[in-house]
Amino acid sequence: MGKARVRSDVGKVATPPSVALHMVAKLFNHTTPPPESRVLDAGCGSGVFVEAIIAYLRRRGAEIPEIVCIDNDFNLVNMARRRFEGMDRVKVVYGDFLAVSERELGGGFDYIISNPPYVSYEAIDPKSRDLYRRVFKVARGRFDIYMLFFEKALTLLKPKGRMVFITPEKYLYVLSASSLRRLLARYAVEEIELVDERVFGVLAYPAITVVRKEPPTGPTTFRLRDGSVVKVTLPGDGRSWLQVVEEARLGIRQPARCYKLERLALRISAGVATGRDEVYVVPRSTLPKELEPYAYPTVSGRDLSMFKPGAVIDYSRLEYVMLIPYDRNGRLLGESEAKPLIDYLSKYRQVLEERVSVKHKGKKWYALHEDPPLKYILRPKILWRDIALEPSFYVDERGEIVPRHTVYYLVPRDPNMVYVLAEYLNSSEVREQLKHRCQRAANNYIRLQSHIIKELCIPEDILTSKTHAGLTGRLQV
Ligand SMILES: C[S@@+](CC[C@H](N)C(=O)[O-])C[C@H]1O[C@@H](n2cnc3c(N)ncnc32)[C@H](O)[C@@H]1O
Repeated sequence: MGKARVRSDVGKVATPPSVALHMVAKLFNHTTPPPESRVLDAGCGSGVFVEAIIAYLRRRGAEIPEIVCIDNDFNLVNMARRRFEGMDRVKVVYGDFLAVSERELGGGFDYIISNPPYVSYEAIDPKSRDLYRRVFKVARGRFDIYMLFFEKALTLLKPKGRMVFITPEKYLYVLSASSLRRLLARYAVEEIELVDERVFGVLAYPAITVVRKEPPTGPTTFRLRDGSVVKVTLPGDGRSWLQVVEEARLGIRQPARCYKLERLALRISAGVATGRDEVYVVPRSTLPKELEPYAYPTVSGRDLSMFKPGAVIDYSRLEYVMLIPYDRNGRLLGESEAKPLIDYLSKYRQVLEERVSVKHKGKKWYALHEDPPLKYILRPKILWRDIALEPSFYVDERGEIVPRHTVYYLVPRDPNMVYVLAEYLNSSEVREQLKHRCQRAANNYIRLQSHIIKELCIPEDILTSKTHAGLTGRLQV
């Protein structure tokens, strides 16, 4: 597989010895392995897991099987070599786990344990990304290196072999891991334990995954952080596993036919990216008269928080407007058509020309970073923050607001449905679902991305209330 390498200083979060021991017990299923078996520690660093394996087996008076430890960091490999010097059952290999062949490692393995490196898509150099995409089935979308470790380990594991990984729990639900979920669901995923987030300090929300290399034989046991245990049959279609767990926990049954929210929407999307908010977004109080025809009330995610969740927005409290050089159909105005605005923007021409959209994508110097689809935006709609502690949805009943890129919006096909849909989105049922389905950001915040909202199943009573929505769905402010 070529010489692709990720920067070796990133993605290294050492496993605390107590967690390593806990994982080793899971690896050997709380028994002892036959002495002729082979164990691999993938991305072994200085050998935390090897040490734990030896301690675990010595405590039980069992023989040490053959242990191979591989890492691509020369210094760590040397540390491991010194640590296990004189132990002929331990072999430390300096090499790239993602590129090494089974033959180079002396054959397949009965057990594989790993705390793989976490290297986000952005940190992988573009050449390696292309290479990984060609070699690994799970290298899809904005993949992370730890996902590739799962796939590689499955190829090196012998039939009926066991693997135990500790990784970010994100792979259980992010879109970019749907290929990995599809792959893992073909095997017996015995257990997934969500570990206390303080275990690693820097690594938020870790999960320990135990897989046996054979077809699924029964449900997967999920051990959740609140101590509860849920057994679920993992779906093979790549959808979020946490969603499935949450539905099992709440006793929610997906309707046989799910009518997805996106079918009721003309558009569900992130708000408008100008590329230079400090130029295009100005306080309404200082707006010169000649710019009024180009000014639209705007909100950022932070601005939304001043309103009561679920409330119809109080337009008199919106302090900012966005200056938009487009007509209401979304056509970019010519320089002579929008003279006062062009005169104002000319003062910032240099910084506007620095934007990627102008420099590299050939857009006009005064165009917004993305052309705003105003014919959809300027309709009654529902708004929400992209990152929030609690999901909250707000109504722009007049359809006047142009949301900024920190706000998502949903435009119902039928404008009368704006209230009833907002009421549904603000219901405790949806709040619970979103809290568990959405990707987590720092400090317990969640990302309310549009693809999650699109997938929500609309209850039948909302579909049938469609015609009365305008009369009955009015929200309390
Ligand atoms: C998260 S650390 C875990 C280290 C140790 N196993 C532990 O649990 O404390 C990940 C390790 O993977 C190694 N690594 C990163 N990319 C690798 C690759 N392509 N092949 C082999 N090792 C790699 C890093 O050098 C690092 O030591």
